[in-house]
Amino acid sequence: MNIIVTDDYASMSRQAADVIAGCIAETPSCVLGLATGSTPIGLYRSLVERVRAGKLSFRDVTTFNLDEYRGLPATHEQSYRHFMQTHLFDHVDVNADATHVPDGANPSHEQVCAEYEQRISDAGGIDLQLLGLGHNGHIGFNEPDDHFAVNTHLVRLHERTIQANSRLFDHIDEVPREAYTMGVGTIMRAARILVVASGADKAQIVRDAFFGPVTPQVPASVLQLHPYVTVIVDEQAGALC
Ligand code: GLP
Repeated sequence: MNIIVTDDYASMSRQAADVIAGCIAETPSCVLGLATGSTPIGLYRSLVERVRAGKLSFRDVTTFNLDEYRGLPATHEQSYRHFMQTHLFDHVDVNADATHVPDGANPSHEQVCAEYEQRISDAGGIDLQLLGLGHNGHIGFNEPDDHFAVNTHLVRLHERTIQANSRLFDHIDEVPREAYTMGVGTIMRAARILVVASGADKAQIVRDAFFGPVTPQVPASVLQLHPYVTVIVDEQAGALC
């Protein structure tokens, strides 16, 4: 595991965008696993700038997002599909059919989850998976538990996650209580993993996840067992490393 502590959010974002751009340069038809949350917004901006400058193209790239709220249609402002359109897909030359987010509008979790895993496998697996880090160590929406969930599945969100994500909704009651998420196994099957974290409120979980014991109570800790992980954090999130 390679942990890089950068000066600030801008430089974390730039360096993380370098990793993604490097993956696309190496394999233009690569399969990227993408993440939502506030943390990757800067790196998506950096990727958009590179595409606008003609230095990068998503023409042959396929993407799979980690997760989606169950019950929110793609058009909902807080859906992760909407987030991805707004922050990346609408501004780059990616083929719309090549972008995948679990279908939050489909209540049949068996169907959503099985199809999602199948699509990832049909695409040949994920070459580079981007991850943010929840305050409780969740990755995607894999919440602390007594076991690691293997495949894409339906989760009930923890109270702390609902509270953290309520900042984006008008009222906490509007935050969906359930979500579809890639499993820890889905994530661990990616050939390479890139984690980003920023801000003082992530310092403790960065330490617990990457320097503490590997336990499903801190889902991100499992990444210590992956052979090819790059963690890029800003100075504040890296303060306890
Ligand atoms: C959400 C997402 C995660 C994300 C996490 C951290 O719960 N499901 O994929 O990593 O929040 O978000 P932020 O980057 O806003 O702290």
